[in-house]
Amino acid sequence: MASAKVVYASLTGNTEEVAELLGEFLTEAGVDAEVLSVDDTQASVFADVDVAIVATYTYGDGDLPDEIVEFYDELAGVNLDGKVYGVVGTGDTSYELYCKSVDDFEEQFEKTGAVKGAASVKIENDADSDDREKLEVFAKSIAATLNV
Ligand SMILES: Cc1cc2nc3c(=O)[nH]c(=O)nc-3n(C[C@H](O)[C@H](O)[C@H](O)COP(=O)(O)O)c2cc1C
Repeated sequence: MASAKVVYASLTGNTEEVAELLGEFLTEAGVDAEVLSVDDTQASVFADVDVAIVATYTYGDGDLPDEIVEFYDELAGVNLDGKVYGVVGTGDTSYELYCKSVDDFEEQFEKTGAVKGAASVKIENDADSDDREKLEVFAKSIAATLNV
């Protein structure tokens, strides 16, 4: 069975919930998924799985959360050739740079050699039923990319 790790940063719980939902949808799609807080891990954790996923909120003025900056910096130096990546995130459209950290992580993953397995999902604060559907589609797309 293919394996995935979902690494998340979350201050008030929105992104943690998204990461947990995504873990469930990946499992339903046939991918064995483990969900980890960025506080307990390093970017090299992706070296031993087939799918690398980051879930992050955006802080400040379009800034990465402080607790994910080191992970972000490390990620550019990890070789993920032959693996699939995906990025999801939460934010708030009242800020000018909506979910900017999602875009930042996409750029960083592009340096690793991994292939993008699904269009990134941006969620306004906490996930509603539409967002859940988007996460399910995301998980299915990741699984389909693996099977190519
Ligand atoms: C001080 C502060 C700054 C924020 N800046 C941004 C931002 O620049 N862009 C954005 O899309 N969301 C911004 N947000 C919204 C959060 O990213 C959003 O509420 C997110 O769901 C929080 O995730 P969490 O519950 O996992 O911590 C900001 C929130 C706070 C409190």
